[in-house]
Amino acid sequence: MKLKDKVVVITGASSGIGEATAMRLAADGAKLVLMARREERLQYLAQKLMDEHQTDSMVVKLDVTDRAAVLEAFEAVKKTYGRIDGLINNAGLMPVSFLDKLKIDEWDRMIDVNLKGLLYCIAGVLPVMKAQQSGHIVNISSVAGRRVGPGFAVYNATKFGVTALSEAMRMELTPTMNIKVTVIEPGAVATELTQTITDKDILDSFNKPSNSLKPLEADDIARSIQYAISQPDEVMVSEILVMPRSQM
Ligand SMILES: NC(=O)c1ccc[n+]([C@@H]2O[C@H](COP(=O)([O-])OP(=O)(O)OC[C@H]3O[C@@H](n4cnc5c(N)ncnc54)[C@H](OP(=O)(O)O)[C@@H]3O)[C@@H](O)[C@H]2O)c1
Repeated sequence: MKLKDKVVVITGASSGIGEATAMRLAADGAKLVLMARREERLQYLAQKLMDEHQTDSMVVKLDVTDRAAVLEAFEAVKKTYGRIDGLINNAGLMPVSFLDKLKIDEWDRMIDVNLKGLLYCIAGVLPVMKAQQSGHIVNISSVAGRRVGPGFAVYNATKFGVTALSEAMRMELTPTMNIKVTVIEPGAVATELTQTITDKDILDSFNKPSNSLKPLEADDIARSIQYAISQPDEVMVSEILVMPRSQM
C-alpha cells in the first residue's frame, strides 16, 4: 500500500524496533498510533515525529496484557481515524533463562506479552479490517521462532507460536477478507530487549569475549517492515528473516 495518510498502529513503539519503525513510516507520510506502557517515551517520540516529519500521531498508553484495555484502545483509534490500515504487532520481551532456574513468573510474562498480548491486538484490529475488507497485520516473531536453543525454550515457544499463527492468519484472512499478514523474524538487534534477562548464566554467555556477533540496528528491521507493507495490492510478502551477516 502507499503509506501516505494510512493509519498504522505500532505496539511497543516506546523503544527499539517499534520506535525505529515509527520514524520510517512517518517519513512516508503514514498517520501513526503509538502504543506502549512508557507514555513519556511515546510523547517524546510523537514530538520528534512532529518536528522531523510534521506527523501528528496518537499516543496510547497501553499494557497489551490487559485484554479489556486493548480492545478499548483499538475502539478509540477507530473513533479517531475511522479506519485502521496497518498493525505492527511488535510489543515483546525476552527474559530468557535456563529451565531449571524455574523462573516461572518470567515464563508467564513472555506468554502473556509475546503471545496473548499479540493476540489481543489482533482481536482489536480484526473487526475493523474485516469491515473495511482491507488492512495489513505485521507480527514480529524472531529467528527464535524458527530455531530453538538452550536457554531460549519459553521465548522459542512464544515466537514459534507467533510464526505459526501468522501463517494460519494469512490463509484465513488474506483470500477472504483482503487482510494481508506478514511475519518478520529478526536475528540479533541492538535494542533494550536483553534488559529483562535476570539469569546470570545467560548474561555471562552473551558477554563472553568469543561472542563476536555484531547485532543489527533497529532501523534495519524497520526497513523490512516498510518493505512488506508498501508492496502493490497484489503482492503479499508473507515472511522475512533478517539476520546480521555474522549470525549463524
Ligand atoms: N532485539 C532483538 O534482537 C530481537 C530479535 C528478534 C525479535 N525481536 C522482537 O522485536 C520486538 C521488539 O523488541 P525490541 O528488540 O525493539 O526490544 P525493546 O526495545 O525492549 O522493545 C520492546 C517494546 O515492547 C513494549 N512492551 C513490553 N511489554 C509490554 C506490555 N506489557 N505492553 C505493551 N508494550 C510492551 C515495550 O514498551 P514499554 O516497556 O514502554 O511498555 C517496548 O516498546 C519484540 O517482539 C522482540 O521479541 C527482537
